[in-house]
Amino acid sequence: MGQYEALIAAAKKARENAHAPFSNFRVGAALRAQSGRVFTGCNVENATLGLTCCAERVAIFKAVSEGERGFDAIAVVADTDALTPPCGACRQIIWEFCGDVPVILANLKGKVVEETSGALLPHPFDSSFL
Ligand code: THU
Repeated sequence: MGQYEALIAAAKKARENAHAPFSNFRVGAALRAQSGRVFTGCNVENATLGLTCCAERVAIFKAVSEGERGFDAIAVVADTDALTPPCGACRQIIWEFCGDVPVILANLKGKVVEETSGALLPHPFDSSFL
């Protein structure tokens, strides 16, 4: 698990930028590309609520928009005792851009659990069906 320390620290730092005035629920994510670069994201809320973008998707879209393809792992940090997992929309996007990768869930108290995107989204729809 020590191999994810830097990724968790990056997600924790990104969480500080969360724009969450409506839920006050702040999330940070950090995505490690196969190139070695790390891309971070925080949740960005909006007054219509429905246009909110989760931390995980912000990190992935940032990386993709920078030309990155191929990712090793993603870390998600929130201030919850029960570790916060990615929502359904994010599971789909993680699967499509990252495949079956470790999804590291952590909180501010140092609790860390390693899941995988494959386990979080069984029987996924993706481009292999198109
Ligand atoms: N949120 C994330 O950014 N990632 C998650 O994994 C769960 C939920 C955000 C969306 C919204 O801004 C707030 O947390 C409450 O749902």
